[in-house]
Amino acid sequence: MVSPESHSRHAFSNPFAEDVHKGLTATPKYLLSRYFYDAAGDQLFQKIMDLPEYYLTRCEVEIFQKHGEAIFRKLAHGPFDLIELGAGDGLKTQILFGHLFHKNADFGYLPIDISGHALEQLEETLRKEWPQLSVTPVEGEYFSALQAIDRLSDRQKLVLFLGSNIGNMNQDQGADFLRQLRRQMHPGDGLLVGFDLKKDPDTVLAAYHDAQGVTREFNLNLLRRINRELGADFNLSAFRHCPVYNPLTGDMKSYLVSEKQQTVRIEALELEIPFRKWEAVDMELSKKYDQNEIAWLAEYAGFTIEDWFFDDKEYFTDVLFRVV
Ligand code: AVJ
Repeated sequence: MVSPESHSRHAFSNPFAEDVHKGLTATPKYLLSRYFYDAAGDQLFQKIMDLPEYYLTRCEVEIFQKHGEAIFRKLAHGPFDLIELGAGDGLKTQILFGHLFHKNADFGYLPIDISGHALEQLEETLRKEWPQLSVTPVEGEYFSALQAIDRLSDRQKLVLFLGSNIGNMNQDQGADFLRQLRRQMHPGDGLLVGFDLKKDPDTVLAAYHDAQGVTREFNLNLLRRINRELGADFNLSAFRHCPVYNPLTGDMKSYLVSEKQQTVRIEALELEIPFRKWEAVDMELSKKYDQNEIAWLAEYAGFTIEDWFFDDKEYFTDVLFRVV
């Protein structure tokens, strides 16, 4: 048995260890999807973006290809800072660069990411592909990084939060996130947010339940990471990937379900975690939105909606929010 006091015995210096401890001793159990992205997880997510079932990335690329010109005609007028939250491989943003240089726009690109490794890779790619681009990578949490940028520059800000990354937050978390973002922006600044839209529930579910099992691996990889980094003994073959879509709320949830009663030992946490047969671990939320919910979010956070951009199937939307 683990007594409540045992939590405080650990002086955690490692946020990953602390969050794993919290999540696996909670009822119901959960793990945070932000920890999916170690080196192997980054590679698996790259594979996911190429899956036939995973429509999200292709839809947003289509939006940028078709409407990139219109988006940037609206976005900015004078010189500006283009700030991207969680830039990843920057592939979509590069489509926008094409439009910007075409228009001789005067701008600098500031990708923000908590992964210094991801930023270095991005910077290297961009230096090769866009030697004329001024790139200033900022390593850190979104809000402290934004604050640092605000102190350095008084140019107009255009913030990108793409790829349905907002879907990993529930509606309340998303609303508070946008409101906090709004507080760091100034009148005239713009925010482009990528939302995955409600659609045929079978289409949504398939995107998280692909035939090749890459998404399953993506989820299991977090258990593998806990095994490696925290000395745990998760038996990966005793957990089933179980994605569930709720068309009412738009909650696309992923669970790992224990197929038998078992105990997992986590050495670095001096912790034994019991699993009941068919007990689920909450792994990820990928929320889908409709236009009413997006309009509500914008108003709650203190933005006006200037324009909506869609792919042809209207599976996805990039919405231009403006600070008034
Ligand atoms: C990168 C958070 C947008 O939720 O669709 C892909 C991550 N998870 N397949 C998403 C993910 C399972 C993705 N985001």
